[in-house]
Amino acid sequence: MRDASPQTVFLKDYTPPEYLIDQVELNFDLHEQRTQVRSILNLRRNPQSQERSAALTLLGEELQLVSIAIDGQPLEQSQYLLDGEALIVHEVPQDRPFQIVIENIINPQANTALEGLYLSSSMLCTQCEAQGFRKITWFLDRPDVMSRFKTTLTGDKSKYPVLLSNGNKVGQGELENNRHWVSWEDPFAKPCYLFALVAGQLECVADEFVTMSGRRIALEIFVEKHNVDKCAHAMQSLKNAMRWDEETYGLEYDLDLYMIVAVDHFNMGAMENKGLNVFNTKFVLARPDTATDSDYEHIEGVIGHEYFHNWSGNRVTCRDWFQLSLKEGFTVFRDQQFSGDRTSPAVKRIEDVNALRTRQFAEDAGPLAHPIRPEAYIEINNFYTLTVYEKGAEVVRMLHTLLGAAGFRKGCDLYFQRHDGQAVTCEDFVKALEDANGVELEQFRRWYSQAGTPVLTVGQQYDAESQQLHLTIQQSCPPTPNQPVKAPLHIPVKLGLLAADGSAATIHYNGSSQAEITLNVTEAEQTFSFAKLPQQPVVSLLRGFSAPVTLKMERSLDELAFLLRHDSDTFNRWEAGQQLAVQVIFKLIDAIELSRPLQLEPVIVDAYRSVLTDSGGDLSYQALLLALPEESYLSGQMAIIDVEAIHQAREFVKKTLAEQLHAEFKQLYVQHHLDESGIFDAGAVGRRRLKNACLSYLSKLENEDVYHIAEQQFYSARNMTDQMAALSAIVNSNHPAKARSLDSFYMQWRQEALVIDKWFTLQATSSMPNTFATVQALMKHPAFDMKTPNRVRSLIGAFSQANPLHFHAINGEGYRFLADQVLALNTLNPQIASRMVTGLAQWRRYDAARQGLMKQQLQRIVATEHLSKDVYEIASKSLA
Ligand code: ARG
Ligand code: ZN
Repeated sequence: MRDASPQTVFLKDYTPPEYLIDQVELNFDLHEQRTQVRSILNLRRNPQSQERSAALTLLGEELQLVSIAIDGQPLEQSQYLLDGEALIVHEVPQDRPFQIVIENIINPQANTALEGLYLSSSMLCTQCEAQGFRKITWFLDRPDVMSRFKTTLTGDKSKYPVLLSNGNKVGQGELENNRHWVSWEDPFAKPCYLFALVAGQLECVADEFVTMSGRRIALEIFVEKHNVDKCAHAMQSLKNAMRWDEETYGLEYDLDLYMIVAVDHFNMGAMENKGLNVFNTKFVLARPDTATDSDYEHIEGVIGHEYFHNWSGNRVTCRDWFQLSLKEGFTVFRDQQFSGDRTSPAVKRIEDVNALRTRQFAEDAGPLAHPIRPEAYIEINNFYTLTVYEKGAEVVRMLHTLLGAAGFRKGCDLYFQRHDGQAVTCEDFVKALEDANGVELEQFRRWYSQAGTPVLTVGQQYDAESQQLHLTIQQSCPPTPNQPVKAPLHIPVKLGLLAADGSAATIHYNGSSQAEITLNVTEAEQTFSFAKLPQQPVVSLLRGFSAPVTLKMERSLDELAFLLRHDSDTFNRWEAGQQLAVQVIFKLIDAIELSRPLQLEPVIVDAYRSVLTDSGGDLSYQALLLALPEESYLSGQMAIIDVEAIHQAREFVKKTLAEQLHAEFKQLYVQHHLDESGIFDAGAVGRRRLKNACLSYLSKLENEDVYHIAEQQFYSARNMTDQMAALSAIVNSNHPAKARSLDSFYMQWRQEALVIDKWFTLQATSSMPNTFATVQALMKHPAFDMKTPNRVRSLIGAFSQANPLHFHAINGEGYRFLADQVLALNTLNPQIASRMVTGLAQWRRYDAARQGLMKQQLQRIVATEHLSKDVYEIASKSLA
C-alpha cells in the first residue's frame, strides 16, 4: 500500500548491480500461515559497478525478520536498517566474497495479491515475476543478478506429498511429525524472478520427449486429482512445441525434466519458471466437453509461449524490466509462428491482427500509451501490456520481414550464441540481427522508443500514357504522453498488384520484376513508381499486415468487393471484406445519428453471398470472412464513440444479412452440423466454426425455427464449442428457454470452474436488456469470488471490457459499479484491481456526458486512501 507519493523508476537511471549473488541456498519450512525461510546468499562485489559504498541493500517486502548473520556472525540491530522495502546492512566485506544468512517468516494464506508465496486452493505456489521474490526473502531482486539456486522444501507429508522447485531433484528424506523434505538444484544461473516452488496434493501426468540430439526428457504435468482427465492436450502441445523449436530455431531443451503445474488462482496466463512452469488452469485443462476449439488453440499457444521462453527469456534474459519486450515481444512472435504452423497461418494472422487493432491500438491512442520499451514506470506489473507483448511481437515480425526467414534465423542464432547466460537489452537483440546479416537498422530502432500507432495515408495516380502507377505514401504518428513530436519510422509495406481479371500483375520496380514486393517506407512522404502496367491495377497494400499501422486509402465499395473476391493474400482478402463492412456500417451510423431510415447496400449482400457459396477449403477462414468487424474495432474508427449507434448499425447489418441470405446460412448450417466431438483436426474445427457463425446470424431472425435449432444444439452438444455457441445464440436473443438453459448449464457444469467462468462471461457480455441487473445479481451468486482472478475477469472484466453497450449506459451505473469493484479489489489484489481500471481509461473518447461520469469515477479512485501503486499509476495517468 502507498504511504508517501509513489516513486517513478527511469530507464535512464540504470546502473549495474553493486553486488552479485553467485549461489543461493533456500530452505523452506512450509506452513500455510507461517512459513519459515532460511536463505544463504554467497555474495561478492560486482567488478562492473562504479559505486563505492560499503553498504549492501537487499530488497524485501511484507517479511518478518528472525535473524541475519554475515560469515557466521549474527548482526546486532545497530548494524542494519530495516524498512518496508529494504534491509540495509551498513558494512559488508569489500575485498572478498562473503556469506549472508537470513531467517524470515511469511504468511502465504494472507497473501491475496498472489505475488510471492501464496495458497491456491490447498496448494502452496509462487509467482515471482516481476518483483515477487522480495516477498519471499530479502534479495537483490533484479533480473541482472543471476544465481545458482539450491532449494530444500520441508512440509507435512499428507498436505504436501509433492514438493517441487526448479532444476533436478537431488535428495529427499523423512522427518518426524509426519513431515518430509525434498532438495532441488538448478544448474543454470538465473534471475530470482524465475524461481518457483510448489507444494500440494497433486497428481502427476507423465510422458517423455526425445530431443534432436537424442536426450530423453521427462515431462510432468501436475494437477489436482479431479483434473487428471484434462491434461492430454497440454502434454501433446508441449511435445509439439519442443519439436517445433528444434526444427524452426534449432533450439533444444537443456534440463532432464520439464514440469508444469496448473493452479486455480493466478494473476496472468502462465509463468516460465526454469524447469517448473506454473500455469493458470485455464491454459492447461481441456476435455472435448469442457473446452472449446479456441480454448484448445489458446492452450497450445500458451504452452508453447512458456516453453519458448526457456531460450528467449531464461537462457538469455533481460537486463532490467524496461527491456521486458526483449523476451515477451520475441516470445509472442515465436508462439504466433508456432500456432500458425499448427493450425492455419491465415486464420492465426487474422486473429492476431484483429486483437492488436481492437485492443492494442486503443492503448496506443489513449492516456496509457507507451513505447514497447517504456522509459519510466511506477509499478512494473502495469507494463505487462498489449503494447509490450503484442506490438512488441509485431516489431519482431517486421524484423523477420525485412531480413527474410533465413536472415532472421541467422540473427537469432547469433543472438543466442553471443548472449547465452547473460541479461541483455533490446539493443543487443537488434545488434545481433544487424551483425549476422551485415545490415544497418538504425532508423528501425525508433520502433522501440516511439509510442503511438503510425498512420499511412496512401494516394495513387495512374498514368495511362507512360503505363506507370505512382503510389504516394505519407506517414505520421499522433502525439502520445511525453512524446508530442514523432520522427519517421522504417516501415516495411508489402505490396501486390491485381489485374482487371483478378490475376496478379507483375510489379516492375527498380529493375526487378516480382509478384509481390516489400517497400521500405522511411520518410514522411515518399513516392514509389511502377512501370509496364498497360491497365490500371488494383493495389493490394500492407499484405499480411506487414506493419502495425493504420492504413488510410480511398477505396470504393466495388474495389473492396473485387479484392474480397480475388486477392491472393489471405490477410488482405479478409481485410477487404472488413473494410467493406466498415464503410457500410458507418453510412448506417450516419443515418442513425440523423434519424434517417436504414437501408443495406446491396453490394455487401452480394459479397456475403459469394463468401457463403465459395468455401475455398479452409472453413475456419471462411467463418472469419463472415464475421462483421467487432464493435470495439468500429469504436476505434470514431472520433467520438457512439456506442448505441455502433451497436444498432452493426445489428442491423447482421439481421438484414440473415434475412436476405437466410437460405444460404441455413443450408451451410445443416451441411456442417455433424457430430464430430473429440475430433480437433482443421476440418472438424472449421466445420464447427462455420456452422456456428451461421447459427449466430440465423439467431437474429428470432423465429421458432431458429429457437428450435439453437435449443436442439444446446441439449445435444457433446463438445463445448457447440454447446457454448448454442447457449450464446439463446442468451443473446429473446429465446423463450433462456433462463432454463442457463440453469441447466450451471447445474451440468457446477463442478468445473473454467466452464462456470464461461457461464458468467456469457451473461456479462449479453447485449440484451437487463444485463446490468444480471451482473449485479451474479456478484452475489455463491459461485462468485473476488479472490479468484479468473472469476473476477469473467464477470467484472467481461462486463466492463467486452460489453460496451451496457457498460457505457448513459446513467453512469456501469462506471460506478466498476469503480466500486476496483476499490474492493485494491486491497485484495492490486494487480487485478489495476487491470480493471482499463475500462475507464478511454474516457476522452466519449461524449461530454459520459466523459464527465467516467472522469468522476477515476477521480474518486485516485482520491481513495491506501491506494496500491498499481491502481494509483493507471488511474492517475488516465486522468492526466
Ligand atoms: N512472463 C509471463 C509470461 O509472459 C508473465 C508473468 C507476468 N506476471 C506479472 N505478475 N506481471 O508468460
Ligand atoms: Zn511471456
